[in-house]
Amino acid sequence: MKILVTGGAGFIGSAVIRHIITQTNETILNLDKLTYAGNLTSLEDVASHPRYSFIQADICDAESLDEIFSAYEPDAVMHLAAESHVDRSISGPANFIHTNIVGTYTLLEAARRYWGSLDRERQQAFRFHHISTDEVYGDLLHPDDMSEDVTVLPLFTEETAYSPSSPYSASKASSDHLVRAWSRTYGLPVLITNCSNNYGPYHFPEKLIPLVILNALEGKELPVYGNGDQIRDWLYVEDHAHALYTVLTKGKIGETYNIGGFNEKKNLDVVNAICDLLDRIRPGATSYRSLITRVDDRPGHDRRYAIDATKISKELGWEPKETFETGLMKTIQWYIDNKKWVENVKKGTYQRERLGLIK
Ligand SMILES: NC(=O)c1ccc[n+]([C@@H]2O[C@H](COP(=O)([O-])OP(=O)(O)OC[C@H]3O[C@@H](n4cnc5c(N)ncnc54)[C@H](O)[C@@H]3O)[C@@H](O)[C@H]2O)c1
Repeated sequence: MKILVTGGAGFIGSAVIRHIITQTNETILNLDKLTYAGNLTSLEDVASHPRYSFIQADICDAESLDEIFSAYEPDAVMHLAAESHVDRSISGPANFIHTNIVGTYTLLEAARRYWGSLDRERQQAFRFHHISTDEVYGDLLHPDDMSEDVTVLPLFTEETAYSPSSPYSASKASSDHLVRAWSRTYGLPVLITNCSNNYGPYHFPEKLIPLVILNALEGKELPVYGNGDQIRDWLYVEDHAHALYTVLTKGKIGETYNIGGFNEKKNLDVVNAICDLLDRIRPGATSYRSLITRVDDRPGHDRRYAIDATKISKELGWEPKETFETGLMKTIQWYIDNKKWVENVKKGTYQRERLGLIK
């Protein structure tokens, strides 16, 4: 298969590319605009591989997309390009509407034009895989809200109604609706996945886990929103990459698959776990927990997310390999061992060095 991956220079996209290039025989064209979140140094391990190539392009640019589809002739699209940081969506929602909604629409239309030009056999084999988030479902009952009448904590299933809370999740929900409409109206063979919070190597340090690891290593404050009791369901990024390839190759056309690690954790417990692991492997004079600082809660902050990943496990045989403890240890060790990547990101060098890395 020739796979067109959008957003392949981002956190999850680069994990998907590393997974597919090293574990399969598929060929990849990485299409990425290289926003602040796109970092080609995350792909150095595979950059010179003969089955990998890169093109800098914008999913909102229909003309470029048409040229890329006709020149590359992909058998599948894995669409990960997006604006992805909730806090940025609150301070500046416009980019989120543009990239996540208009961009997905533009990509769907380019894919439809290209798909319509294929012979019947290639049309049937073609897949448009849209990668989305569990945040489209809104939030769930929190253990603190349980009572005598409510004793079971619900999970997000593929049938849960959409109820997004932030500009980010609303824009992703819109893009999911567009993808379903293109399947139903035009017959485009689509797959949709909704995943829980990812963590792991090459994660941009604005997100909770890398931020806490790096701040702790530098002896800086560890910010926790509100009382830190918000619950997220964590999945190691390489397990997500494996799940996405499984859905692409084995998933049923038109279906949605929820992906999660069955790892519900309160934010404060995540931060404590990082501190405790660092206390073991990098002990200081006092525990890293002493650096924890409460900051004002994010407006509209969802209290609990939790994915029911039974469908992908039963129907496609996918299971996460990492527990939260093993994945977190690998992640901490990666940030300790990869100071060059971290410095590169912090100083913005990766943005200046781009030209030399593009092939
Ligand atoms: N990070 C998570 O925990 C998580 C969980 C579930 C789903 N997702 C979804 O997975 C996808 C990837 O997430 P991520 O964390 O890797 O994001 P990221 O922000 O790390 O990467 C996004 C990538 O998209 C590129 N991009 C942005 N706008 C573009 C445009 N207009 N044209 C082409 N490329 C563009 C960026 O340059 C970057 O390389 C997103 O769609 C996100 O909604 C993320």
